[in-house]
Amino acid sequence: MAELSIRPMLEPDLLAYKALRDSMLAAHPEAFTSDAETESQRDLASYRSRLTSNTTLFTLVALDGGRLIGALTCEREPRRKVQHIAHLVGMMVGDSHRGRGIGRALLADTLERLHATPGLAQVTLSVTATNQTAVGLYESQGFERYGRLPDAIRLPDGRRLDKLLMLRRLQD
Ligand SMILES: CC(C)(COP(=O)(O)OP(=O)(O)OC[C@H]1O[C@@H](n2cnc3c(N)ncnc32)[C@H](O)[C@@H]1OP(=O)(O)O)[C@@H](O)C(=O)NCCC(=O)NCCS
Repeated sequence: MAELSIRPMLEPDLLAYKALRDSMLAAHPEAFTSDAETESQRDLASYRSRLTSNTTLFTLVALDGGRLIGALTCEREPRRKVQHIAHLVGMMVGDSHRGRGIGRALLADTLERLHATPGLAQVTLSVTATNQTAVGLYESQGFERYGRLPDAIRLPDGRRLDKLLMLRRLQD
């Protein structure tokens, strides 16, 4: 592996981000709520909302040399009464780079940034119940299951998959 780095996503990263996301949605339909066909038709400009915006706190990207090979987005509730809650979405590490600690590093960096963000008390995510790699990773970083949504996603091949709802407190 060339030099690995993690940093917030910038406008010039959007093309590579969309390419990674499109390929991951197509390769792992069971892992994501969005479907590859719809998302591949989205224009690039729509991904600007994944840079810092009204709801997105940040998207972190992982780079191997200059190549974007992983990403994780953190959104925050904009309404006043729920501003203490953030959500993680779009966790992905390209198949060529899996199992090398990059997902763990993206999550650890994200949690560090969330701890340093005033007013945040908890962070949630949802994960397909059968995705043992991801569930194991989240649990090892302090996420706990608080629910399970049955029949959460339906795949074209007829499979119906549950999602685990997970939560990590950032402060008491
Ligand atoms: C889930 C995902 C982000 C993990 O990223 P990764 O870089 O491969 O994960 P890491 O190498 O950091 O491994 C993290 C932990 O996952 C587990 N893990 C990793 N690869 C694994 C494998 N092939 N089998 C079982 N467990 C595995 C290990 O427990 C590891 O912990 P360790 O560091 O103590 O060994 C990545 O596999 C991925 O993008 N998968 C497809 C999309 C997806 O499922 N996204 C999550 C949506 S909620």
